Amino acid sequence: MNTLLSASVSAAALDRTTDVGPEVLAIRGGRPLTGRVDVKGAKNLATKAMVAALLGETESVLRDVPDISDVHVVRSLLEVHGVGVDDDGDGVLRLDPRGAVSAHMEEIDTHAGASRIPILFCGPLLHLLGQAFIPDLGGCRIGDRPINFHLDALRKFGAVVEKLPSGIRLSAPGGLRGADIELPYPSVGATEQVLLTAVRARGTTELRNAAIEPEIMDLIAVLQKMGAIISYEPNRVIFIEGVDSLSGYDHRCIFDRNEAASWASAALATDGDIFVAGAKQQEMLTFLNVFRKVGGSFDIAEDGIRFRRGGALKPVTVETDVHPGFMTDWQQPLIVALTQAQGTSVVHETVYENRLGFTDALVQMGADIVVHPHGLDGPYRRVGRRELEQAAVVTGPTPLHGADIVVPDLRGGYSHVIAALTADGESIVRNIGIIRRGYAQFLDKLTALGADFDVIG
Ligand code: EPZ
Repeated sequence: MNTLLSASVSAAALDRTTDVGPEVLAIRGGRPLTGRVDVKGAKNLATKAMVAALLGETESVLRDVPDISDVHVVRSLLEVHGVGVDDDGDGVLRLDPRGAVSAHMEEIDTHAGASRIPILFCGPLLHLLGQAFIPDLGGCRIGDRPINFHLDALRKFGAVVEKLPSGIRLSAPGGLRGADIELPYPSVGATEQVLLTAVRARGTTELRNAAIEPEIMDLIAVLQKMGAIISYEPNRVIFIEGVDSLSGYDHRCIFDRNEAASWASAALATDGDIFVAGAKQQEMLTFLNVFRKVGGSFDIAEDGIRFRRGGALKPVTVETDVHPGFMTDWQQPLIVALTQAQGTSVVHETVYENRLGFTDALVQMGADIVVHPHGLDGPYRRVGRRELEQAAVVTGPTPLHGADIVVPDLRGGYSHVIAALTADGESIVRNIGIIRRGYAQFLDKLTALGADFDVIG
C-alpha cells in the first residue's frame, strides 16, 4: 500500500508494546478453587464491536470491554488506521473513526499479532477507504482456520481480492453492493464478515445458514444501534438492507460465556465452589444441562451463577456444535473434570479438526484419554455431523500428578492450568501468556480463588 500514515495516527499505535507478562508458573495442586470471579464482556463480541465502530460517522462507546490481548491487538490496528481510541477506565472504550486513513502494510502486519480479527476489517475499510490490506491471520492452532467463506462472500459484494505473499489486498472499484449468500457452514467469522460488509452496501443482502451465537446477536444489536436494518428470520436466515450512513453506538458487551463455562468446569475439576459474577443462564442453557449431567450443581442468582460439585462426577457423551449446541470452546476445560468422573466419557469435537491436542499434557499428568483423530463409530457415536470430527474417550477417575507442560492454545492452556490445580504435587506450566488473549486478570482470579502458585518466569 503506498499511502502515508496520517499525522493523526497516534504514537501509541506505533509503539504499543505487545502484551508482555509472566510466561511460566509453578502450580501446586490439590486445593479446591473457591470464591468469586467477575466475568466481563465477551472476547468474541468486544473485538468485533470495536471493528464495527469503523463504520460509524461519529464516536462509539463500548462498555465492559475485557482487558485481554485480543482487545489490545484490535485497538492497535484501529489506531494504526487513524481511529482515536481512548480508555476511560473500568472497561469503557471510546472509538472515534473520524480520522481514519489507510495504513502501511508493514504497520498492519506488526500489530496484527496472533489474532484472527483483522479479517473482519475488510468490509468496513472497503466502505471507508475503498481498499484494505489484511495480513495472514494468526489465532489458536486448532485447525488450519481457512478464510474461504470470508473471501467468497466479499467477492459477491463486488470486492476484488488479490493474494499477496504476506496477506491479501482488497479493493472495491465499483463500491459494494448487496449480495445473496449461503454459507457452507454456520461460520461465526464469516457471518460477522457479511454483517459488517452488508450494512453499508448498496441494496439488500440475504444471508443463509448464518451463525446465530449470542455474540452474533449482540453484534447485530450494535449495528442496529448504529442505524443498520437487519432482520433475523427463522432457519438461520438474516436479511440486511444497506443504508447510506451509520452513526456511532453506545453498547455494553454481552458477558463472556466461554470464560464463565471455563470457571464452572474448574469448580468441577478441583471440587471447588465458584461464583461467576456476570454469568447469565439464558446464554448458557446447553452448558448448564451438561454441567448438571456430569454431577455439577449450580444456583442462578440475579448477578451471576454459583458452580460447584453436587457429588461424585459422572461420565457423559458430548458433541460440540454450533449454537445452540455445546460450544467447541467449552470442551477443553470440561475434559479436565471428566478425568475425575467415575466411568467413560466421550467428547466428539465436530467444529475444528485439531482441538484435542491439549489432551496430550493431561495424559502426561496421569489422565486416561484416547483421541480418535477420525472420530468414533459404534455405540458411542451419537449423531452423524460433518465429515470432520475428532473424538476423545476419557476414562476416570484417574489421579493426576504434576508435570512440566507447555500451553498450546487459549482454551487448552486454561485447561492445563486447571489440570495442574487438580493434580497432586507441583507442575511447571509454560507459555501461559497465550491465556492472556482471552482471560482478563487471569492470575488475579486464580489468587482470589485460593490457587497455590508462583510466577517463575
Ligand atoms: C469463532 O472463531 C471464535 N473466535 C472461536 O473462539 C470459536 O471457537 C468459533 O467461532 C466457533 O464458535 C472468535 O470469535 C475470535 P468459525 P471463527 O468461522 O469465527 C471453518 C476462542 O477460543 N471455516 O465459526 O474462526 C473453520 O475452519 C475461539 O475464543 C472454514 O472452513 O470460527 C472451522 O472448522 C477459538 N472457512 C469452522 O468453520 C472459513 O472461511 C468454524 O469456524 C471460515 C471457517
